[in-house]
Order: sequence, then structure tokens, then C-alpha cells
Amino acid sequence: MPRFGAIISGTGSYVPEKRLTNQDLEKLVETSNDWIVQRTGIRERRIAASEQATSDLAIEAARRAIESARIKPDDIDLIIAATLTPDMSTPSTACILQSALGIKRHIGAFDINAACSGFVYSLSTASQFIVNGIYKHVLVVGAETLSRIVDYTDRGTCILFGDGAGAVILSACDDPERGLQAFELGADGAGGPLLNVPAGGSRMAITPEVLARHDHCLKMSGREVYKFAVTQMTHSLQQAMQACSLTSEHVRLVVPHQVNQRIIDSATGKMGFPAEKVYINIDRYGNTSGASVPIALDEAMRSGRCGAGDWIIMVAFGAGLTWASATVRL
Ligand SMILES: CC(C)(COP(=O)(O)OP(=O)(O)OC[C@H]1O[C@@H](n2cnc3c(N)ncnc32)[C@H](O)[C@@H]1OP(=O)(O)O)[C@@H](O)C(=O)NCCC(=O)NCCS
Repeated sequence: MPRFGAIISGTGSYVPEKRLTNQDLEKLVETSNDWIVQRTGIRERRIAASEQATSDLAIEAARRAIESARIKPDDIDLIIAATLTPDMSTPSTACILQSALGIKRHIGAFDINAACSGFVYSLSTASQFIVNGIYKHVLVVGAETLSRIVDYTDRGTCILFGDGAGAVILSACDDPERGLQAFELGADGAGGPLLNVPAGGSRMAITPEVLARHDHCLKMSGREVYKFAVTQMTHSLQQAMQACSLTSEHVRLVVPHQVNQRIIDSATGKMGFPAEKVYINIDRYGNTSGASVPIALDEAMRSGRCGAGDWIIMVAFGAGLTWASATVRL
């Protein structure tokens, strides 16, 4: 039995001002607004300004989460940042955040890369420190500037992705029946080549030839990823419900990774969730990878779609291939 509950005591999110609409994309690649809306549900996405790096988006989301939790930056005991687009390969985005938030205590800070599942992986990791009584408040952030690795000549990928950041404060409470009750983390590394950024790591250096082939950008086998996503998101949602003996009637809201409207509809529909029990903002932001679940959660909490006492399930799928779910009693 855990000694403490790990509750979501605050949430925040931030998206950059600049909008990239389907009509804008029609000017860049051979596509149409109708095709994009029908196949994905996306109408527009946000794009970071040239001077904004991932940590700049993350800090805004983090400040809002800290404010909503009514704590001070120095009350935070640990920072975990989920991102696949860090400012640089080192230092971590979490370390940059620690300094930018003006935290004077030398608390731990590290990044997790589980692509679009990264936030749920990070939340589950954070909860271990809380339920075991080690820390009281953990800042968990998901932030991405995917526009920096998207190939805007590839219509199979550029229509999907956007930039943004979301954050939560996970805090200890005396009631172990509140907060994060179950999670599932999964990966199938054999599926890695289906969705990857081939160059820029230790495997493939960036050369003029690599740049010409756009191998420093995100590559994806859309159809294969689609099938895998439906299967794994359904499976993970099912695990999340079974772990706490919940049916769709008990759950107030599913907060899915905003991967594709059709994938979300298919997975949640199979598990018996009507549309009003599924939070959707993909039309406004597209797929923001690690930022997608915490942005959706922040909007859902602030708009009253879920609140204290409600069961919610977060579920995600992404490169790796990875998947994850978290069942939470708010
Ligand atoms: C990318 C995705 C939207 C494509 O939709 P789809 O229904 O699978 O489409 P297909 O890849 O089967 O392509 C169908 C046709 O549309 C074309 N097409 C692809 N992208 C297009 C675009 N942006 N605009 C217009 N036509 C497009 C294809 O070339 C293909 O044409 P063809 O039949 O003449 O060969 C979809 O596969 C998807 O969302 N996959 C999951 C991707 C994802 O979410 N990744 C992130 C995981 S975290």
C-alpha cells in the first residue's frame, strides 16, 4: 500500500502565438484543408517564434502550474521534463528550467524521452517519489518545438505536428486513494524505424548530404504507425480501466494524446466512451507530442470538464514505439 497519494495539485499550459493553418500548408505542399480535416481532425497548429526554444515554452507552462498549485518555485523537490526536442542535447531541459524558475535549492532535474508517451512516463516516474514519501512536490513538464524537426516538404508528416508545453505539479496528500492509482508503461523497440529522426545523434552525423535528404527531420511510415496506434491505445486504455476496476461509466474524462482524431475515436469508441467523455483539442494544436496530454489536461481542468473526485484516464502512444496510460482520481 502506498503511504501517500500523488495528486495533481496544479496544471498549466502555454502555446506560441503563431498559427499555421491548413490553408497555409496548402501553399507549402500538395494537400487540402478537406483532406487534412477528414484524415486527422487538425485545422491549425502553433509554431514557436524563431527565438523561442523548448524551455521557453516549458517555463510559461511551469509558471502557470506553480501558480495554480499555490506553491512557490522553491517548494518544488524535483523537475522532470518530457521532450524529444530539447533546447540542446545537454544540459537537459529540466536543468534549464530549474535555473529559469529561479529555484535556489539544488533539487534534482532530468529529462525523459519517450516521445509522445513522454509526459505519461514522466508522471508515472514522478509518482514513485511521492507515494514513497521522498518528495512533496514534483514539477512534471511536457514541452516540444516539433516545428524544428518537421520537414515542411513532406506532406505525410508536416500536416500533423505543432509546438506547445503543458505542466503539472504532482503533490503528496495523506489519502492514498486519491491521485494517481495505476499506470502502464510499454515499448516495442522493434518498431523504432517506423517513426524516427535518423540524423543528429551518434549514429548519423549532420553533413551537407544528410541535410539535402532531410534526414535530420522526422520520418514516418504513417499507415503502419496508424494501425499500431489504434491497437496500443485501445490496449492501454483497457489496462488503465481494468487496473482500477472501472467501466466507461465510472470515468469522467479520457485525456488522450492528441495523435489523430480517427485514432482517438477508434480507441475510445472500442472501450465504450462517448465523444463527450473524451477531451479533444487536436483541431487547434495538432500533435504536440510530449506536450499534448498536459495541455489537454490543463484545458480540461480549467474548463470544468473534470474536477475533484473524478476518475480520469490519460493515454498516449508515440515513437519508440512507446505507449502509456495513467488512471487518476482527481
Ligand atoms: C499520416 C496519416 C494522416 C495519413 O492518413 P492515411 O489515411 O493513412 O493516408 P495514407 O498514408 O494511406 O495515404 C492515402 C493517400 O493520401 C495521400 N496523402 C498523404 N498525405 C497527404 C496529404 N497531406 N494531403 C493529401 N494527400 C495525402 C497519400 O499519398 C495516398 O495517396 P495514394 O492513395 O495515391 O497513394 C495517417 O496515416 C496517420 O495519422 N498515421 C499516424 C501518424 C501519427 O499519428 N504519428 C504520430 C504518432 S505519435
